[in-house]
Amino acid sequence: MTTTSATPQHTAAELFAQALRHEHRPNPYPHYEQLLREPIARMDDGNWLATGHREISLLLRDPRISADRLPPPQQRPIRKSLLVEDPPKHDQLRQLVSRQFVPRVMGMRDHIDKLVTDLLDAHISEQPGHLDVVADLAYPLPVTVICELLGVPREDESLFGSLARRLTRGLDPIDTQTEDEIRELQETRAELQQYLEGLIARHDAAPGGDLLSGLMHSQHPEGPMDPIDLRVTLGLLLIAGHETTVNLIANGTLALLRHPDALARLRTDPDLATPLVEEVLRYDPPVQMSGRSTLADIDIAGTTIPKGSRIRLLLAAGNRDPQRFADPDRFVPDRADNAHLGFGGGIHYCIGATLARAEAQIALTALARRLASPGLVADPPPYRENAILRGPESLPVSFTRLSPDNGGA
Ligand code: HEM
Repeated sequence: MTTTSATPQHTAAELFAQALRHEHRPNPYPHYEQLLREPIARMDDGNWLATGHREISLLLRDPRISADRLPPPQQRPIRKSLLVEDPPKHDQLRQLVSRQFVPRVMGMRDHIDKLVTDLLDAHISEQPGHLDVVADLAYPLPVTVICELLGVPREDESLFGSLARRLTRGLDPIDTQTEDEIRELQETRAELQQYLEGLIARHDAAPGGDLLSGLMHSQHPEGPMDPIDLRVTLGLLLIAGHETTVNLIANGTLALLRHPDALARLRTDPDLATPLVEEVLRYDPPVQMSGRSTLADIDIAGTTIPKGSRIRLLLAAGNRDPQRFADPDRFVPDRADNAHLGFGGGIHYCIGATLARAEAQIALTALARRLASPGLVADPPPYRENAILRGPESLPVSFTRLSPDNGGA
C-alpha cells in the first residue's frame, strides 16, 4: 500500500501543512477529515502522521514506541521531563509527582468554585455587560490554581504567567518557528530556570504545604526529587497547568454559545457538565497533537513505520474518526461511549486530567447559570498562534445580566 498521498490532489504533508496555517486555526477539522482517509501516512520529510483513533490508541500503548520526540541535539534541554521520558525513569518521576499531586487536587472543588464566583463577580455591576472569557475567567482560574498548588507566591503569578505563555510556542513544530522565535525561546527557558532556582531556594529555607515543598522533602522510598529533575518537572507542570485548561474552558464556552440547546440544558441540569466537558475534549481538544518515535519497525494499518522514525499523533483527528465515533462532527453534550484522546492515553495519560475537568465543569456551569442571554461578539474569535495548544486569543461575550450568585439562572 502506498502511504504518500492522502487524496489524488494533496499529499498528507500538504494537508497537514495547510491545517497548521494560522488562517485555519479556527477550524482545522475539514483538513483532518481528509487526512483521516489515510490513518497512518508518511510525510514528505520522512516523518509519519497518525490520524486514526485506533492507530493512535495502539501507538500510545506500544512499548516499542518512545515518548522522546525532542529536536536535534543542539536544541535539547539538559534533562528530559517525564512527558518525553521512557520507563523506567518516566515511571519513577511520574510516581513522585502523582503522590504529591493527586491528594492535593482531591477536595479542591469548593475552592475552585469560590475562585470562579469571585472572577465573575468582578463584572456584576455591568448590566448589560461584556466579558472576555479568556482574560477574565479561562486564563486567571488555572493560573491561580496551579500557582497555589505548586507554591508560587501570588505576587509572582503574572511573571510566571508570561513565562508560560512565551514557552508554549516552543511546543509547536520547529519548522513553523522563526529563528528569532527560537532564540527568544532559549532566553525565556533560561529566565524560567533562574526563577525556579530562586523559588526552590526559598522553599528549601521555608517549606510549606505545597507541591514543590512536597517534592523537595518527600520521605517516600523514591526519595526527594533531584534538583535538576525538580526544575524540569516544575517547568512542565507550569506549562501544562497554564495553557491547556485555558483552552478547555474557552473551547467549551465557544461550543456552548454555538449550541444554545446545550447551553439551556446545562443551565438547569448541572450534572450535564460531566459528559459535556468530555465532549469538548473530543470535539475541540486543547491539545491537538502529540509526538513519539519508534524504537523498532512497527507494522500498523497495512504499512511499516521503520525504527528511528518520528510520528505525530493528531489526537484531534482521532477524536473525529468516523470509524470510532458516530456523527463525529456533531457536538453531542451527553454523548455516550466517548473514549476521546483529549488527555492522551497509555503511560503518559494526563496527570492533571481530574483538575482540568473540575475547573472546566465548574467554570462552564457558572457561565451557563449566571449569564443571561450570552452572545459571541465575534465568531470565530481571534486565535492564538499556537497550533498544538490551540485556542482563542480572546473570547468576548456579551450578556444582558449577570446574576449575583451561582444558584439562579
Ligand atoms: C484541559 C487541560 C489539559 C489537557 C487537554 C491535557 C492534555 C494532556 C495530554 C494529551 C497529555 C499526554 C501527552 C502525550 O502523551 O504526549 C498530557 C500529559 C500530561 N499532563 Fe496534561 N492536560 C491538561 C491539563 C493538565 C494540568 C492542569 C496538568 C498539571 C498541572 C497537566 C499535567 C500533565 C503532565 C505532567 C503530563 C505528562 C504525563 C506523563 O508523561 O506521564 N495537564 N496532558
